[in-house]
Amino acid sequence: MQKFTISFLLLITLLLPWSVQSAPLTLIYAGDFNGELEPCGCSEGGNYGGILRRSTTLKALRSEQPDLVAISAGQLLANESSRDQLKSEYVLKGFSTFNYDAVALRWRDLAYGVEFIDDYNIPWLAGNWKDSGDTVTRSRKIERDSVTLRVFSWLSPKRSPFRQMDQSQWLTMDDMAVVQRGLKAASEHGELTVLLTAWPLRKVQREFDLADVDILVVRAGHEVFSEPQMAGDTLVLKPGSRGMRLGRVDLEFSNGKVDQYKHQVIEMPESVADDEKLREWYNDYNAKVKAAYLAEAEIKKALASGERDYLGAESCASCHQSQFDSWQSTKHATAFSTLENVGKSFDPDCIVCHTVGFDQGGFIDFVMTPELMNVQCENCHGAGKAHVESTGEQATVNQQMPPLARCQQCHVGSHSPDFKFEAYWPKIAH
Ligand code: HEC
Ligand code: HEC
Ligand code: HEC
Ligand code: HEC
Repeated sequence: MQKFTISFLLLITLLLPWSVQSAPLTLIYAGDFNGELEPCGCSEGGNYGGILRRSTTLKALRSEQPDLVAISAGQLLANESSRDQLKSEYVLKGFSTFNYDAVALRWRDLAYGVEFIDDYNIPWLAGNWKDSGDTVTRSRKIERDSVTLRVFSWLSPKRSPFRQMDQSQWLTMDDMAVVQRGLKAASEHGELTVLLTAWPLRKVQREFDLADVDILVVRAGHEVFSEPQMAGDTLVLKPGSRGMRLGRVDLEFSNGKVDQYKHQVIEMPESVADDEKLREWYNDYNAKVKAAYLAEAEIKKALASGERDYLGAESCASCHQSQFDSWQSTKHATAFSTLENVGKSFDPDCIVCHTVGFDQGGFIDFVMTPELMNVQCENCHGAGKAHVESTGEQATVNQQMPPLARCQQCHVGSHSPDFKFEAYWPKIAH
């Protein structure tokens, strides 16, 4: 009888993928977050995840396992609609409270520029990042009692929005060997390596030598997590997307390799309470959404009534003839025909900087608002109606705005790479 029990236990030990009592490392992982700040709750099946529940869940996990390691394959942000920038700001604010150990940077996360993602205490990484600055690092070292992890990622230059430009402007190096070398060095130092990618397993296997990769995170499938698998000595994790769930693996190592693992998917349905600590953050977000909505409604109302706060340069000329003449000789005065010449005068992504007040209650199109084509006085001085109606009594809207800030509404990044105020201002001064 006793003999039977022992061999029975032995059998269980051999059959179960997980049988060791104490887990030296708990890894919490997830795939693309896609800007899913909060689940809409329109259907039960879709009502998973969101930042408030993620916060509660991570806290509960940490109270049970203070040493856990939390990593994310990134794509925290979305940029499909004009409201996504506000949402993205709050996604970052939310994530900054989570104490993640490593978050892979993805191109979507740079939709609003590198500065936008700075200052949030989020440990961004991209294994082939060009300058190793503070915001983004090429790897992240994570030290725990049982093990030291080194996390890398690959940010595919072929998907870069900057790939049309010359290489000097790319943010990443198109050189996989950089990451490969990093992995090898980490392995040689006895560190356990993690590689975060946005590729399916087969593509990673084709492009990468996985010999020095202990844990690989591949592209997030649709919402649900798949079971992990071993590819040689590499543990492959297959997260789900849209921030609806979290993956948990409890790992055992031997000889610097993943020896055993236990996998669990953590659901975050409605029954998971919102984290009260984030309540203020969330109220603040909702208030901003409302304010933006109301401001838009005001603009629509004004458009419908045909009343506009933007008047166009002609209406300034009567009192400021010399400034008008000087402006007319600048390239600003023909910025719209520049767009027409390249067949882009119908693209909102271009119109916004080549007309007056687009999306702000100014320029609509060249038929309804021909007087607001081009870059004009009111791009720099603000909507002129109140100033004109008061015959100059009331100061212009932008009077307090520093000149440089006025230029930087448009002369930014790739749109004006050579911009220097001292060099540009004299060309248009009036
Ligand atoms: C963020 C504002 C902004 C947006 C958006 C923008 N532009 Fe421009 N564009 C500028 C500025 C500023 C310049 C002047 C750059 C300089 O001379 O330093 C410029 C200049 C140009 C020029 C003249 C280049 C030359 O060599 O003289 C063209 C053509 C042009 N833009 C086309 C476009 C097109 C097409 C789009 C949309 C895909 C677009 N712009 C979107 C700000 C913008
Ligand atoms: C590209 C931006 C820009 C455009 C376009 C522009 N201005 Fe200005 N303007 C400025 C700046 C910057 C100043 C200097 C403000 C300062 O020194 O604080 C200025 C100054 C002025 C002043 C103050 C008196 C002076 O001449 O310094 C007047 C009046 C004025 N602008 C009118 C106009 C009118 C009218 C137009 C259109 C016909 C126009 N501006 C177009 C940027 C612009
Ligand atoms: C009916 C006459 C009149 C018209 C039209 C007018 N202004 Fe003025 N503007 C004035 C007077 C007068 C001053 C001087 C006020 C002062 O110096 O205290 C002035 C001052 C300014 C200044 C410098 C002080 C400030 O408030 O920033 C700017 C810039 C300016 N105007 C821009 C414009 C623009 C842009 C337009 C067209 C949208 C315009 N003005 C149309 C009368 C006019
Ligand atoms: C509303 C957007 C906008 C603002 C604000 C703006 N610019 Fe521009 N600027 C443009 C665009 C668009 C062009 C390109 C026009 C073209 O070539 O058709 C341009 C072109 C120029 C050029 C001509 C560059 C050349 O190749 O000769 C100079 C100089 C310039 N801007 C200076 C300034 C300065 C200085 C300011 C701030 C005081 C400023 N701009 C503010 C959009 C803007």
